[in-house]
Amino acid sequence: MTQPFSLIQHELEEVETEIRRNISSEVSLIPEIGEHLLFSGGKRFRPALLILCSRLLSTKSSKESISLAGMIELIHTATLLHDDVVDSADLRRGVESANTRWGNGASILVGDFLFSQASSIMVSVGDMRIIGTIALTTKKMSEGEMFQLSLEGTLNISEDEYLTLINNKTAVLIASACKIGAILENAKSDIEEKLRTFGEKLGMAFQIVDDVLDFSSDSKEIGKPVGKDLTEQKATLPLIFALLKMDKQERSKTEKIFLTDTKSKEDINYIVDLVTKYGGIEYSMNKAKEFIESAKEKLNDFPDSDEKQALLHLSDFVIERKT
Ligand code: IPE
Ligand code: IPE
Ligand code: MG
Ligand code: MG
Repeated sequence: MTQPFSLIQHELEEVETEIRRNISSEVSLIPEIGEHLLFSGGKRFRPALLILCSRLLSTKSSKESISLAGMIELIHTATLLHDDVVDSADLRRGVESANTRWGNGASILVGDFLFSQASSIMVSVGDMRIIGTIALTTKKMSEGEMFQLSLEGTLNISEDEYLTLINNKTAVLIASACKIGAILENAKSDIEEKLRTFGEKLGMAFQIVDDVLDFSSDSKEIGKPVGKDLTEQKATLPLIFALLKMDKQERSKTEKIFLTDTKSKEDINYIVDLVTKYGGIEYSMNKAKEFIESAKEKLNDFPDSDEKQALLHLSDFVIERKT
């Protein structure tokens, strides 16, 4: 992903400094856990979008855009800390997850610390529109994660429910990164809405691809566990689609495996093979591509620029990404 990122390399370096400043604490375990997660990688997709959307409208990046890009990454990281507890995940960004190394308690508390630091950054920027946007975003993310938790252990989930779920848990934050870029430049409401929708559609595709990678990737490559959704009894789009095509016997065997606590490799392969055979992966990737195409359309009316090209590249990256 070098191309879109090289355009804003300087800003992204400043974002790293901003992040580092915000994980310092006299309680040494806080920076220790913060650094473990924040400097073990991470694509910095959301800060990059915020900066690029702001620069799309002004060409120059402001001090505020750096602070807020750091803020959005802190929020993202806080949700990852909490999510890994919820998902009992043992790997994140290619390293042992914080909950595995330090326990669930520490992960939850450092997540809370990062949320608080993100709030302080927003207060120092002092724009109520941004504070309001993030307040609503984190509320929706909690609802999305909770909705998913409430659906754990059921295959009875419709595509519409799945889309609502991923909109809340993932797309809303990516949409807000883009919207904040526009707010910072005092964009007119139609421009702000275009960039918000661009981010939202990108976010939908991002999570669908993430769910496909959970079926088809390799944990070394992606840096987090794969096959986790099935083990955790979470039905995602590839399976939701394939279930509609299965015959009665296949469906009932799938259900039995899905609900078993310890699944053998053979069991997992049985489901993965059916999902593939009935086109669940292909269907989901096509759906993600549709979201990307309609995201890109939102940029049609913006004059051509390096920033616009970078945003278009980032959109393609969402589909092509392997990590
Ligand atoms: C992971 O997000 C959580 C999802 C919404 C799928 P990223 O894939 O952006 O994670 P990092 O920041 O690069 O590790
Ligand atoms: C995305 O959920 C994480 C958040 C939006 C908080 P997942 O559980 O699907 O993401 P990964 O696969 O752990 O990154
Ligand atoms: Mg997870
Ligand atoms: Mg999760």
